[in-house]
Amino acid sequence: MSTSGSDFIVVANRLPVDLERMEDGTQRWKHSPGGLVTALEPFLRSRSGAWVGWPGIADAEVEAFEEEGLRLHPVGLSAAEVRDYYEGFSNGTLWPLYHDVVAPPVFDRSWWESYVKVNRRFADACASIAAKGATVWVQDYQLQLVPQLLREQRPDLRIGFFLHIPFPPVELFMQLPWRTEIIRGLLGADLVGFHRPGGAQNFLWLARRLVGLEPSRGAVGVRTRPGVVQVGDRTVRVGAFPISIDAAGLDAIARSRETQARAKQIREELGNPKRIMLGVDRLDYTKGIDVRLHALHELLAEERITAEDTVMVQLATPSRERVEHYKQMRGEIEQVVGRINGEFARVGHPAVHYLHQSVDRRELCAFMSAADVMVVTPVRDGMNLVCKEYVACRYDLGGALVLSEFAGAASELTSAFLVNPHDLDGVKNSLYAALTVDPAEGRRRMRALRRQVLTHDVDRWARSFLEALGSASPN
Ligand code: ADP
Ligand code: F6P
Repeated sequence: MSTSGSDFIVVANRLPVDLERMEDGTQRWKHSPGGLVTALEPFLRSRSGAWVGWPGIADAEVEAFEEEGLRLHPVGLSAAEVRDYYEGFSNGTLWPLYHDVVAPPVFDRSWWESYVKVNRRFADACASIAAKGATVWVQDYQLQLVPQLLREQRPDLRIGFFLHIPFPPVELFMQLPWRTEIIRGLLGADLVGFHRPGGAQNFLWLARRLVGLEPSRGAVGVRTRPGVVQVGDRTVRVGAFPISIDAAGLDAIARSRETQARAKQIREELGNPKRIMLGVDRLDYTKGIDVRLHALHELLAEERITAEDTVMVQLATPSRERVEHYKQMRGEIEQVVGRINGEFARVGHPAVHYLHQSVDRRELCAFMSAADVMVVTPVRDGMNLVCKEYVACRYDLGGALVLSEFAGAASELTSAFLVNPHDLDGVKNSLYAALTVDPAEGRRRMRALRRQVLTHDVDRWARSFLEALGSASPN
């Protein structure tokens, strides 16, 4: 056991930076994709903690290093482990299962074996660097066995777990052949956190059904009234902590002269259309990118909007590109983009601008500042940070947000134009309503959205979780 190690450790599948191998054989670090890193990185930097995670490519041999006050501890994965643990069990089994089975999950025993082995490696890495009595905050569905594996080695640690994706209805979770092992793995934590009370409630039910425990029966609240379950002589709490963003940071970037100038330039580059619609997502089949494209296609075909007046920009970060469902979905989306442009674009004026790329934070803010309508239509999303980022950027009270009811954020952002992504007519009508909203009504909605987002930022999320874990920072 280490006695002089780190007092506060985040462990996540990925480090906040990914190693990239260049064609000339050199390597460089780049920012990792996804909401988890966006949310946790600013918080952890302010706390000078350690971060344990995979450097993003197979067979990378990297020593621990320090980056801007953050101690990064790489955990290596072989090519077979990337295939079986990451692409396989994490993203071919758990991801679709936890997102309402929108794609069929694959149950493969060798993937499960790899998941167990890699979870053990992450637990070992934490055990070897944690100071006595340290707090370890385990993140997300890739590492659900780590709490228990770590507790077996280091009962002195305070262990929290947070799930960044939805926790599924019990009927779906029960499909998993290794369901009891996963619940036992999570019960190794002192506090298990979900975005929504429903997830916490499902977990408590499963602890009773699968492990035979006697959890509390009262309703779990948001940041309050956690459920409680006794596991031997330990008390495990189970709560709901909706994640958020660095709202003040984005607000400040959006207000800067550079961002506003770039937003104006983006409008010009798009041909100064009357209205710009924007989508920003990892290219993932849960995000409903197809839904919004189909809605746009029909609005154009019905001549409710024209490609001269209204353009759509879709920024789509490449994601999990070797997983079969992702390959297939990319093909389908690119086909629809091609079809819309084939039918409605003019030379030099596409109806949809599709970028299969990631852009940096300032550029993202400029796009959000330029967009009249932000379109967020996942068929299921644990929270969704993009919609909160848009709201944080709109200090001018301009713009309108179209948001799926199936994103966790919908229960907080009730002044958005809420849509059921399975109802194409409903999505079309809401898009049209957002595009043509009366400016005073638009400002009223945006003011209410901003009140929510600016007062419930990522710092509040982290503090409320860590307070419930009993290890909030003294400052
Ligand atoms: P997920 O965690 O499933 O990826 P979230 O909406 O919670 O979804 O978080 C996604 C994060 O990644 C947000 O911070 C968003 O701004 C960022 N992001 C997504 N797509 C892009 C893109 N094309 N360029 C830059 N950032 C992106
Ligand atoms: O928030 C969900 C999540 O899966 C995170 O765990 C992850 O870091 C992010 O999305 C991006 O996914 P990936 O690490 O598979 O590229």
